[in-house]
Amino acid sequence: MANKLWEKNFEVNKEIERFTVGRDREMDLYLAKYDVMGSMAHITMLETIGLLKKEELNVLLKELKNIYAICERGEFVIEDGIEDVHSQVEVMLTNKLGDIGKKIHSGRSRNDQVLVDLKLFTRQELKDIVEAVKILFDELIQKSNQYKDILMPGYTHLQIAMPSSFGLWFGAYAESLADDVTFLQAAYKITNRNPLGSAAGYGSSFPLNRTLTTKLLGFDSMDYNVVYAQMGRGKMERNVAFALASVAGTLAKMAFDACMFNSQNFSFVKLPKECTTGSSIMPHKKNPDVFELIRAKSNKIQSLPQQVMLIMNNLPVGYFRDLQIIKEVFLPAFEELKDCLQMAAYIINKIEVNEHILDNPMYDPMFSVEEVNNLAASGVPFRDAYKKVGLEIEAGTFKANKNIHHTHEGSIGNLCNEQIQALMDENIAGFHFDKVEKAEKELIK
Ligand code: ARG
Repeated sequence: MANKLWEKNFEVNKEIERFTVGRDREMDLYLAKYDVMGSMAHITMLETIGLLKKEELNVLLKELKNIYAICERGEFVIEDGIEDVHSQVEVMLTNKLGDIGKKIHSGRSRNDQVLVDLKLFTRQELKDIVEAVKILFDELIQKSNQYKDILMPGYTHLQIAMPSSFGLWFGAYAESLADDVTFLQAAYKITNRNPLGSAAGYGSSFPLNRTLTTKLLGFDSMDYNVVYAQMGRGKMERNVAFALASVAGTLAKMAFDACMFNSQNFSFVKLPKECTTGSSIMPHKKNPDVFELIRAKSNKIQSLPQQVMLIMNNLPVGYFRDLQIIKEVFLPAFEELKDCLQMAAYIINKIEVNEHILDNPMYDPMFSVEEVNNLAASGVPFRDAYKKVGLEIEAGTFKANKNIHHTHEGSIGNLCNEQIQALMDENIAGFHFDKVEKAEKELIK
């Protein structure tokens, strides 16, 4: 392989080369535009400490902007024989600009380059995930408000338990998403710190201005200790993966409910027939595959923290090539989760609710606690009231009174959707995406 940044006077064994590169070139395409951004910040800083002349910086920045535009058009490729995205960008600069292109790597290593690429990529993806979460959240709140007075059975042990409502069911998943955003926010916070300048993991003898690259790239602060900056590889991915898994957990549970409630044996909800899939043998089938696939994909995303954790398990301090493999599970996960979120929002919008489910007398016993409470409120000791109603149920004489009055916070009659909305709004406001957008725009303008 020609064109290796580290090429010296011997050729690397072809099998070793094939195995060590593996799928890395494919993965690095996710990072290309961020690699270019990182280089822009790095060389801007190099000029301020005298390692590049102003004219050299300008020529390099101009060419990096061209490469950035190539990335934006989706035309960036890692050519045959080039090891990774970092090498490709340097080769492109050197092919075009000669010796000036060879100057950009002073004071850095591919170790901190890939770190900064991953941080910039993840920061953007988390923003997109939060936006997709918000769209689903809005659909759920809308449905919750729309069906706030429609009762449905609530279950414990999958046994009919107490009255619930569609307002509560939809709203519960909205609130779950609001909590998931808290995890996303924590993940974003550790992501949005600058590792650039840690070089191979031990800093540099050049007087790098890390405060400047932190500012140029719109990071909140830096990973200060250079050894820790490198140790953050894998740790950031694992923690972000936990946040993604939290969202995926909400989706998987909701999808399972929807599959179950859509079954004829429940018939609480229904999908319009154009949103179902059929069977090759059973002509009557209208299957909720969409929810099944959201469930399976979300369950797969819930395995992500474990996958990342096991890849980095027990690695001691310092860079190891093991870390490269994390990219294979981590980078594609965002697109998969976004797809599930978008589809969930789409299908929740379309879902139809059975407003007459409680006409079926099989659900009458779930009003037993209401009856007990009514008696208790009129002065009968709770345990005596419980016994009385219990005996009526056993004797088949229990008459359900479906006029229920739940008024406390978060109950059927008082969903607190405004408070849930406020929680979500507050969590989203905590991200300060605008600061990042401004810095990125400024850098590539
Ligand atoms: N492909 C490598 C990775 O993802 C880039 C860093 C290479 N550094 C090294 N020392 N081999 O980790």
